[in-house]
Amino acid sequence: MKFDTPATTNAIDQLKVVGKPLDRIDGPFKCTGSAPYAYERHDVLPQAAYGVVVGAGIAKGRIASMDLAAARAAPGVLAVVTARNAGKLAKGKMNTAKLLGGPQIDHYHQAIALVVAQTFEQARAAAELVRVRYESTPGAYDLAALKDSAKTAKPNENTGPTETAVGDFAGAFDAAPVQLDTTYTTPDQSHAMMEPHATLAAWDGDKLTVWTSNQMIDWGVSDLARTLGVPKKNVRLISPFIGGGFGGKLFVRADALLAALGARAARRPVKVALQRPLIFNNTTHRPATIQRIRIGAGKDGRISAIAHESWSGDLPGGGPEAAVLQTRLLYAGAHRMTAMRLAELDLPEGNAMRAPGEAPGLMALEVAMDELAERLGMDPVALRILNDTQVDPEKPARPFTQRSLVQCLRHGAERFGWNARQASPGTRREGRWLVGMGVAAAFRNNMLQASGARVRLDSQGRVTVETDMTDIGTGTYTILAQTAAETMGLPLERITVRLGDSLMPVSCGSGGQWGAANSTAGVYAACMALRRQVAQKLGLDPAAAQFADGQVTAGGRTVPLAQAAGGGELVAEDKIEYDKALSEKAQQSTFGAHFVEVGVDVDSCEIRVRRMLAVCAAGRILNPKSARSQVIGAMTMGVGAALMEDLVVDKRRGFFVNHDLAGYEVPVHADIPHQEVVFLDEVDASSTPLKAKGVGELGICGVGAAVANAIYNATGVRVRDYPITLDKLLERMPTGA
Ligand code: MOS
Repeated sequence: MKFDTPATTNAIDQLKVVGKPLDRIDGPFKCTGSAPYAYERHDVLPQAAYGVVVGAGIAKGRIASMDLAAARAAPGVLAVVTARNAGKLAKGKMNTAKLLGGPQIDHYHQAIALVVAQTFEQARAAAELVRVRYESTPGAYDLAALKDSAKTAKPNENTGPTETAVGDFAGAFDAAPVQLDTTYTTPDQSHAMMEPHATLAAWDGDKLTVWTSNQMIDWGVSDLARTLGVPKKNVRLISPFIGGGFGGKLFVRADALLAALGARAARRPVKVALQRPLIFNNTTHRPATIQRIRIGAGKDGRISAIAHESWSGDLPGGGPEAAVLQTRLLYAGAHRMTAMRLAELDLPEGNAMRAPGEAPGLMALEVAMDELAERLGMDPVALRILNDTQVDPEKPARPFTQRSLVQCLRHGAERFGWNARQASPGTRREGRWLVGMGVAAAFRNNMLQASGARVRLDSQGRVTVETDMTDIGTGTYTILAQTAAETMGLPLERITVRLGDSLMPVSCGSGGQWGAANSTAGVYAACMALRRQVAQKLGLDPAAAQFADGQVTAGGRTVPLAQAAGGGELVAEDKIEYDKALSEKAQQSTFGAHFVEVGVDVDSCEIRVRRMLAVCAAGRILNPKSARSQVIGAMTMGVGAALMEDLVVDKRRGFFVNHDLAGYEVPVHADIPHQEVVFLDEVDASSTPLKAKGVGELGICGVGAAVANAIYNATGVRVRDYPITLDKLLERMPTGA
C-alpha cells in the first residue's frame, strides 16, 4: 500500500480499540517468566556452550603477541576465537568487521577474543588466562583539545546536510539589539539498558540461527551475513523480547558476531552476553558535544538571527552527533546558520542513543532560550510563543503538517502553575530548599519508513499478525494487536502478534521513534489486503464490506468473518510505503513542552527534582497507557542526562572510566517523585493511515534543559556543562546564600 495522500476516514477512525489505554498483551508473559530473552533460550538449545569476550586493554595500537596456550588448556574450554583464526570478516553496513579487533586495536575494550567453554564459569576463568602483549600508540581522546581542528562533518542519512545557512547571519547578529553567545557541553552517555547485549548462535551446516537482542532485525541479518560472508538467506535472526535498547541495539554488536564465530569454531551452539563492565567501552554510546549558540533578537524578543554549531568526535570514518537539527526547525528568524563539526577520536564508537541529535541539541538550545528570555526581561514561555513558526524557517514554502508547540506551552504553563514562578532567580525558599521552575520546548522529527506485515485468519476467527518488528519494551505487541483488531472488526483477544523473526516480513524496526507509527501502518496495509480476500471469498463487495463484531456485512448480507477461512486459513501480506514527495512538501515533526520544579539544598546544593510535566503533541496516540510509559521513561532519562549521566573519559589512556552501573549513574525511583504526561488530542492525517506519529523520543527532548533552567531559577547559578552536579553549583554559589 502506497501512502501518497493525507489519510481520509478509514477503519481505524472507529477507535473501538485503537486509542484506548489498554494493558500490554505481553504483560502476563513478562510477569510469569514466559517472555524469554536471548540468553534464556534454554528451551531451544540446552546443549549450548558459553562464550566470554576478552576486551582490549589499550585504546589504540596493536597486539604484538597473544598467548592462548593456558586458556586453551583450561578445564572445559572448547575453542578460543581471535582475529587470527576467525577467517576473513567483511565490513557490513556498519563497521562490523571491527567487532573483532586484532592485530590493530581501534578502541578500548574492543573484543579481541572469545573463549568458549562448557560452562560460563569455565569460560570466564579461561578468559582471564589469555595473555596479550600490546604495542600502544598515542591516540586522540580529548574533544575540547581537538575542537579547533575539527572538520565540517560529511552529510549522511541521519544528519542531512551538515551545514545550512539562510540570509546573512553574521550581519543580522551584529545588528541585533540583544545578543546572546553561549557555549554548552554535554558528556558522553551510555544507553545502560537493563538487558545486556546477548546472543545464542547455532549453525546447521552453513545455515546460522541467532537468538539475539536487536532492534532492527533486517539490518542485523544483512550485516551478519555480509560480515560472515554467507548468503543472507542462510541467516535467521530471532529477537522477540528485548530488555531495552535506546539505540544501543540498532546494530549487530560483538555478542552476535562472536557467538556465531564461537559456535562455528566449537561446532555447537554458543551463547554470549557482554559482561556489564565491558558494555560501556565495547559498544556504542551517545557522543559528547560542545555547542555554541548565538541568538540575536529585537528588544521585543523577536529573533532575527540564530546560529547553532556543534562539535563532536568519533572514530575514523564515523559521523557527528546531529545536535543542531532542531535549531533548523524550532524557531522563526530570518537569518540563520547551523554547522556540525567532527573530530577524529580513538574513543569507542559514537552512535545513536534515544533522540540522537535533538536530545543533546535541545539541552543547549533550550537553555540558550532561557538565557535570552532573562536578558530580555521576558517570560520564557512567552518568548517561545512569540518566536513560533508554522513553516520550515529554512524553507518557508514548506509548512509543518501539524505543529502545536504553542498549545503545548500554554496548556502546560496553566496546568503546572507556571504563574507561581518567581522571575528573579534564587528568591523562592522553602526551609532548606531553594525552589525553582524551568520550561523547555520538546521537538523531534517524525520519520517515515516502509514497513511490512503478514496476517492470517483461521477458521476460529482468530487473526495472527507476523512481522519482524521488535518490541523493545515500548508496547509494540499491544498497538499492533489494536491495529489488527480495529481493522478486522475483532476484539483484542482474537488477535495474536508474533514479532522479531527474520522469517517474517521486513518491518521498519524500532528506532528513531518511528516504530509505532510505521509498524502499525504496515499491519493496517496487510489487514486491508486480508479484508479484500475475505470479501472476495464470501462473495461480498470489497469496497462496501463492513467489518465489525467478528462479522462482515455488505449488500444486506452478514457473514461471520471466520467463514472466509473456509476451514483452513487466509493469508495476506502487504507493506506500507511512502511517497517521498509528500514528506518533502511538508515537514513532519512532533512537539511538546516540559515543565520541571526542583529544590536545591541551600548548603549542600543537593538537587532534587520535585515534579515534572510533559505536554506532547504527536498525532493520534495509539495507546495512551503505553505512550505515557514511553514518555515518563524518557523524562526519567532526561533527568539522568541533566543531573548524573556522564561517561568520564580517561584522557591519557582513552577509555570511559566509570564502565559499570555503580559508576555510571542513572536515576532511581527516589530521584523521580512525580511525573505527569498530557497528550494533546490531535491527529496528523499526513503521517500514516493511522494518523499517528512517534512519541518515545519526544519525551526526552528538552527535559535536560527544563531541569537546568529550573536549577537556575532556584539558585541564580547557570551551569553550562552537563551533568549539573552539586560540586559545579557549590563552586559558583554566592557565599552566605
Ligand atoms: Mo533510537 S536512538 O534510533 O533506537
